[in-house]
Amino acid sequence: MDLKSKLRHVMDFPKEGIDFIDITTVLQDPEAFQCCMDSFKELADQIGDFDMIVGSESRGFIFGAPLAYKMGKGFVPVRKKGKLPYKTISAEYDLEYGTDILEIHADAIKPGQNVLIVDDLLATGGTSQANIRLIEQLGGKVVGLIYFIELKMLNGREKLNGYKVSSIVEF
Ligand code: PRP
Ligand code: MG
Repeated sequence: MDLKSKLRHVMDFPKEGIDFIDITTVLQDPEAFQCCMDSFKELADQIGDFDMIVGSESRGFIFGAPLAYKMGKGFVPVRKKGKLPYKTISAEYDLEYGTDILEIHADAIKPGQNVLIVDDLLATGGTSQANIRLIEQLGGKVVGLIYFIELKMLNGREKLNGYKVSSIVEF
């Protein structure tokens, strides 16, 4: 299936000049969603063995949790500041204007565990870098990062130098 053609482009969202790639048209199409999850599994299989999947609030949850279920692995949510109830560690990352903070439960990853990061989109790579810092601070090893969509022009991969990065579709 041509998954690229199932994504919807919304011009000028969230502001003028932005071509926003909308994943909801894939999610609401059962065959496309299944194809997307099967493609995620193929990428995960290529990475090799891992113990946990980490997904970031909120679109990382949509693909990360079903992939973890499909592969019989644990799922760890990384959330925006103030949402996780237990002891957390945090990482600041850059937005277009200003910064934001992501958090992970301090006991979510055990030292030495192999972790796969899953998200819908690789743009600048800032979100993924923050995820890497959180996982490594807990002693985890990031074995790879996989995405539904990669925006090549933004060179997110450069920030993720030294890590295995793959995506299902590229723009
Ligand atoms: C979007 C997207 C990725 C991130 C990619 O998340 O889901 O997580 O941006 O951009 P980057 O590579 O430049 O960091 P967003 O923070 O918009 O939140 P959402 O997942 O809740 O929609
Ligand atoms: Mg996100």
